[in-house]
Amino acid sequence: MNDNEKTEIFVTGGAGYVGSHSILELLKNGYSVVAVDNFSNSKPGKDQTMPESLKRVQCLAGKELTFYEVDLLNKDSLKQIFQKHTFSCVVHFAALKAVGESCRVPLDYYRNNVGGSVNLLEVMQEFNVKRIVFSSSATVYGVPLYLPIDETHPVGSTCTNPYGRTKYFIEEILKDVSKSEKGWSVILLRYFNPVGAHESGIIGEDPHGVPNNLMPYISQVAVGRLKELMVFGNDYDTVDGTGVRDFIHVMDLAEGHVSAVKEILTAEFKGCTAYNLGTGKGYSVLEVIKAFEDACSVKIPYIIVDRRDGDVDSIYADVSLAEKCLGWKSKRSLKQMCEDTWRWQSKNPIGFRT
Ligand code: UFG
Repeated sequence: MNDNEKTEIFVTGGAGYVGSHSILELLKNGYSVVAVDNFSNSKPGKDQTMPESLKRVQCLAGKELTFYEVDLLNKDSLKQIFQKHTFSCVVHFAALKAVGESCRVPLDYYRNNVGGSVNLLEVMQEFNVKRIVFSSSATVYGVPLYLPIDETHPVGSTCTNPYGRTKYFIEEILKDVSKSEKGWSVILLRYFNPVGAHESGIIGEDPHGVPNNLMPYISQVAVGRLKELMVFGNDYDTVDGTGVRDFIHVMDLAEGHVSAVKEILTAEFKGCTAYNLGTGKGYSVLEVIKAFEDACSVKIPYIIVDRRDGDVDSIYADVSLAEKCLGWKSKRSLKQMCEDTWRWQSKNPIGFRT
C-alpha cells in the first residue's frame, strides 16, 4: 500500500463527465475515492448500486471505489457519509450546468449549486475537513477585457447567465470561508471547454437530451443521431467569423485535478487560489469541425444560423500559473480530442445506455 491509498478523497458529482474521468486519474494515482451523485445528469448501472460511468471507471482502474446515491441538498445523508469516513480532501463537481436551462429556472440553479455547496461546506466544517478543490469555470470571467485571460482578470460583473453566476457566487463563498478561520485550503479550478474522452472509448460525455455544447453536438451528427450542426454566427471578430474557444482534453483536465489534490494536501498550501485549466490556444468552431472531419474521416453537415445569446467572440486562457504552481500543463492536441470523442461516440452511440 502506498501513502495515497490511506488518503480518502470525497468526490461530489462523481458520475458525470469531468467527475468520472477525474476519479479514474485519482484511483490510478493510488488515492481512495468515495463518490456521491444524485443521478440528475448520469445513468444508474443495471443493478442500481453504482452509476454505469463509475462501474466502467473501476474496470479501467482495476480498483474499486465507494459510491453513495446522495443529493447535496440532503444534509443528513451527507453527514452520515462523513461519519463513516475520514476524508483528507473534497473535490466538488456536483452542479447543474446547462446555460439555457439556468435562464428558465434560475432558482433551481441557485438552490442546487449554491445551496448544495453551502450544505457541503457546513458538513465539512462540522467534521473538520477543510480542504476543497472546486470545479469552477471560465464563465466567471464573463466578457473578456483582454486575452489570453489570466486569473487576475475581474470576475462576476459580466457573467451572462444564472449558471455562470452560481459558479461566481460559490467562488466568493469559498473565499469568505477560507478567510473566516484558520485551516481552510481552497483551490478553484476554472475550466475552459472540456472535450474528448478517455482514450479507451469506454467512458466519455453522455449529455441528457440534445447537447448544448459544440463537441457532443458534432459527434452526435457524426454518428447519425442528429441531422446537422447549427453554427451560431459567422460574423464575430475572429479568424473566420465563428466563435473561438480554448478546448481542453478531459484527460488533461483530470490530470489537472490530481495535481491540485497533491498541492492542496501539502502542508505549505493555505488560503484560496484560482487556476485556469485550459491549453492557452483558441480554435474557431469551423476549425473544430474541420479537425473532427480530418481526424475521424466523417463529414459534418452544418448550417450557419444566428448568434446564440450570451456568446462572446473569443476566450482562451493564460495557463502559466497552473504550470508554475501545480506543475501541470495540458499535453493533448485538438486532433486527439476529436479522435477520442469519436472513439467513445462510435463505440457507444447512445452513451451509457448501450
Ligand atoms: N456552438 C455552435 N453550435 C452548437 C454549440 C456551440 O456553433 O450547437 C458554438 C458556440 O456558439 C461557441 C462554441 O461553439 O462559439 C463553443 O460553445 P459551447 O456551448 O461548446 O461552449 P461555451 O464556450 O459556450 O461554454 C462552455 C461551457 C460552459 C462554460 C463556458 C466557459 O458549456 O459551461 O464554456 O467559457 F461556462
